[in-house]
Amino acid sequence: MASLLDKHKILEKNATLLLVGSLLVVSIGGIVEIAPLFYLQNTIEKVEGMRPYTPLELAGRNVYIREGCYLCHSQMIRPFRDEVERYGHYSLAAESMYDHPFQWGSKRTGPDLARVGARYSNEWHVQHLADPRAVVPESIMPSYAFLKEQEVTVKDVGMDLKANEDVGVPYNDDMLANAEADMRAQADPNADTAALLARYPKAKVGDFDGDPARLTEMDALVSYLQMLGTLVDFSTYDDATGYR
Ligand code: HEC
Repeated sequence: MASLLDKHKILEKNATLLLVGSLLVVSIGGIVEIAPLFYLQNTIEKVEGMRPYTPLELAGRNVYIREGCYLCHSQMIRPFRDEVERYGHYSLAAESMYDHPFQWGSKRTGPDLARVGARYSNEWHVQHLADPRAVVPESIMPSYAFLKEQEVTVKDVGMDLKANEDVGVPYNDDMLANAEADMRAQADPNADTAALLARYPKAKVGDFDGDPARLTEMDALVSYLQMLGTLVDFSTYDDATGYR
């Protein structure tokens, strides 16, 4: 034993040898952890209920990114008791599998939004985004009233779906062909939404911004917010096995 420790002293006294030795040990650990990832088809556990964003939700997500909502809001509930009690089930990797780029965020000036969908009415969101202090007097969130005035550029959405498909989001030909129609139908209270709902289960439909005559960025953003965290049914989800 003593002789082995004596040999170790050789390493300790020679900086170059110690560096080489340390790198060797660290790279063994690294290879053991990283190498298996190259042989896995997918590192994200599949979860029932996840689907690509509807064209309107995708446009809303673009507004979310453009306006920098992620600078104050995260979309990542960590598996800690305080977070789970406040926001709901911790976020699963699969819940951001269609996000390019993901919106986990690193700053919470406001609350996490990963499960904000269905928590408030459309009217609440519209009023809150237009004038946060009208509904939450102590709020420091900026006003986004102008989103009610800006119409969504419908003709771009097909290309947006295609771009997402190019990076791996499973939009099928049916979805790509109907992108513009689906976008209009989701926010039109008089539209027949059966085909839209068949393509995008659980999509929230109807007028979002309080003005059914126009398709605005407010419609898009609220449709996106109302979807967040609502796709996976956690009443049938089991942490240990994935599903019961
Ligand atoms: C400067 C920081 C800041 C920015 C930027 C910001 N927010 Fe907020 N947000 C807050 C704060 C603080 C609150 C909590 C007070 C309140 O409800 O207004 C909040 C609350 C919210 C809530 C209510 C969450 C809940 O669970 O009650 C939603 C929804 C929301 N923000 C959406 C957005 C969206 C969408 C954007 C981008 C268009 C945005 N926020 C941009 C700071 C911000």
